[in-house]
Amino acid sequence: MKIAIPRERRENEKRVAASPDTVKKFVGLGAEVIVEAGAGSTSSFQDSDYSDAGALIAKDEAAALKDADVVLKVQRPLTKAEGTDELALMKKGATLIAQLAPLQNKDQVKDYAAAGVTAIAMELVPRISRAQSMDVLSSQSNLAGYKAVLDAAAEYDRAMPMMMTAAGTIAPAKVFIMGVGVAGLQAIATARRLGAIVTATDVRAATKEQVESLSAKFIMVESDETGETAGGYAKEMSEDYKKRQAALVFEHIKKQDIVITTALIPGRDAPILITDEMLAVMKPGSVIVDLAVEAGGNVTQSKPGEIVITKNGVKIVGHRNVPSRLASDASALYAKNLFNFLNPMIDKETGSLNLNWEDEIILGTALTRDGKIIHPQLTEGGN
Ligand code: NAI
Repeated sequence: MKIAIPRERRENEKRVAASPDTVKKFVGLGAEVIVEAGAGSTSSFQDSDYSDAGALIAKDEAAALKDADVVLKVQRPLTKAEGTDELALMKKGATLIAQLAPLQNKDQVKDYAAAGVTAIAMELVPRISRAQSMDVLSSQSNLAGYKAVLDAAAEYDRAMPMMMTAAGTIAPAKVFIMGVGVAGLQAIATARRLGAIVTATDVRAATKEQVESLSAKFIMVESDETGETAGGYAKEMSEDYKKRQAALVFEHIKKQDIVITTALIPGRDAPILITDEMLAVMKPGSVIVDLAVEAGGNVTQSKPGEIVITKNGVKIVGHRNVPSRLASDASALYAKNLFNFLNPMIDKETGSLNLNWEDEIILGTALTRDGKIIHPQLTEGGN
């Protein structure tokens, strides 16, 4: 089996889908690994690191993908309309594994089917304990939560910890984390390590204990309404809840120095948590990092790829693709997720790929098979 790793070509993408470590593991299982020259350079992996691990280096993408049975990518292929038809470089029958954002790019899923490519979307890996080591959303969100705090600290023109010096005392920064999923929990831990006083909120009551176990204070609307679906995700809240949440946040946010927002609702635009009225009462010099900016944003005035400064001097940071800002670690963890996904499906005798079409992980992630779209969320009657 030949596994190809092309260089990522989308804007703001510095990650790569294999590390020297995972190349070595694949080679150890009998696979042939072909890495496009320069694929790892923006993640601090050199071609020589890959070849030392047993990979062949291909001079360009066409050479890397030509005979590949499996193509590992971080993001979905570029289309002809975007300048390069990456899908056209893959052979019929190849398996493409990446974060394909299929629900937002349904036409491209039709292209995978038409090209006879088996497309697998890693962000759809079901959240069951067996699949935790394959969960790309978790591995990348965790790093994003950490980096968000560092990005905030870099824009904040004061110190984070309390400092008692001969010249006077510096008060610790007050940090407020909104949305306590994987990213939010890591943001709390990071801000605590930097010495900040941390508070956090979420609509899922189950997060209270997690917040408190990290020595932060939980703030939540008193309500009988549950913010959690059976699958453990957040749902959209009632108008009454939203009003009460806004009143609570309005009072709290006035006193905050740094706010990190991470709130997402699967399949919908991110909820607005910080309104113009709240921004207007925040302290000048305070910093907000909106990690949901690419999903519509949790802050009315955040803009993807920009640092917006409000009239009253609040900085709103809206970096795109935050995991890619820690490209080396993000790539290493993403690559390991892919290895953990593929490993059980590699025939240890022949080294070939043997997808188990009865496995819920394959059924949950496979978009296309034998020229057809098969994923329930994309076929007729799907949601
Ligand atoms: P996410 O990225 O979808 O959302 C981030 C956070 O925003 C969530 O905690 C959500 O409750 C919160 N949120 C949504 N709307 C909000 C609002 N209006 N106000 C305040 N907060 C709001 O979440 P993520 O990180 O994907 O985690 C979701 C759940 O999945 C968690 O319970 C997590 O523990 C669980 N999980 C399970 C895994 C497994 O079993 N394999 C792996 C990773 C996460």
